[in-house]
Amino acid sequence: MDKGRVLLALTGFHPQRWHELLSTEREVVLEPDGPADPSIAYAVVWKHRPNLLTSLPNLRVIFSIGAGVDHVFADPGLPDVPIVKIVADNLTQHMTEYVVWRVLDHHRQAMLYRSQQAKKIWHEAPQRPAGDISVGIMGMGTLGRAAASILKSLGFCVNGWSRREQAVEGVSTFAGDAGLIPFLNATDILVVLLPLTPATRGIVDYDLLKQLRRRNGLGGAVLINAGRGRLQKDADIVRALEDGTLKEASLDVFEVEPLPKTSPLWAHPKVFVTPHAAATSDPNHLVPIILRQMDAFERGEPLRDLVDREAGY
Ligand code: NDP
Ligand code: OXD
Repeated sequence: MDKGRVLLALTGFHPQRWHELLSTEREVVLEPDGPADPSIAYAVVWKHRPNLLTSLPNLRVIFSIGAGVDHVFADPGLPDVPIVKIVADNLTQHMTEYVVWRVLDHHRQAMLYRSQQAKKIWHEAPQRPAGDISVGIMGMGTLGRAAASILKSLGFCVNGWSRREQAVEGVSTFAGDAGLIPFLNATDILVVLLPLTPATRGIVDYDLLKQLRRRNGLGGAVLINAGRGRLQKDADIVRALEDGTLKEASLDVFEVEPLPKTSPLWAHPKVFVTPHAAATSDPNHLVPIILRQMDAFERGEPLRDLVDREAGY
């Protein structure tokens, strides 16, 4: 199989480093030579322009530079070629750090201590063992399972919810619609690591948050979302924080990004905001993985980390 050219189509990421690294082994272009450019064999994308790939006649594979592929499916003219998502130790490590950081921050009452510090208050809050707290992870994929394992080793009880039944050592697992309410009812800190699909859009709403356990050692339920913003309803989170349904939240993702300056989440004293920065795609780590996949594919080996089009992730 000949090598073919790579179309690099990124929005929101500076393409330079991706271009440099891909160019060490492949010919890379930022635009096809017209809508039916026959020389393009691969597309490496993040939020590419709609219909950009539609009529490329020799396109073989689309590579997302992120673990999430909702940005790929946002293209109404998506051609019917395999889509590969990123699975990389580097990305997984960053997400695990983010989740553990946020869980410990809430567990060790950092919001309380920061507000006490601002007022120069010397007051020690009760300390509860991690084993009294159940962290529930929605989305037990590559990222969810990695975070679960470290949280477990820190002594937290861990619950996991996924689409299909799965067994994870040391984790109480729940699946599908039937498992959702029991999962939430057994969860104090909810960590959302779901992909955005038609089935998960808007799932984190007020009714869902109501199901979390509030009588716990933390003094309330906590939400951490590092999956996708459109999994949640921002206004429902604010409402839940106002009426005590939620004690605190850490949000890395939002319905609209960048988070509009008018959003009440920015200044909310119970909310910790990061700008979709939980696990950033690093070309130094990810380009070698993408190049290896192209080489393997041309040797006739099966692609790894393929997206299931039906399921949408
Ligand atoms: P995976 O595809 O490995 O795992 C997805 C998990 O979600 C699986 O456990 C899957 O269930 C579950 N799931 C999917 N649909 C449903 C559903 N309808 N009901 C219940 N469970 C469902 O994804 P990753 O772990 O690699 O990544 C997860 C998401 O994290 C990405 O899609 C992306 O949106 C987000 N992300 C965010 C980043 C950030 O910086 N904020 C960085 C990287 C990723 P099953 O096991 O049954 O398939
Ligand atoms: C991803 C992301 O999906 O960075 O990888 O959001």
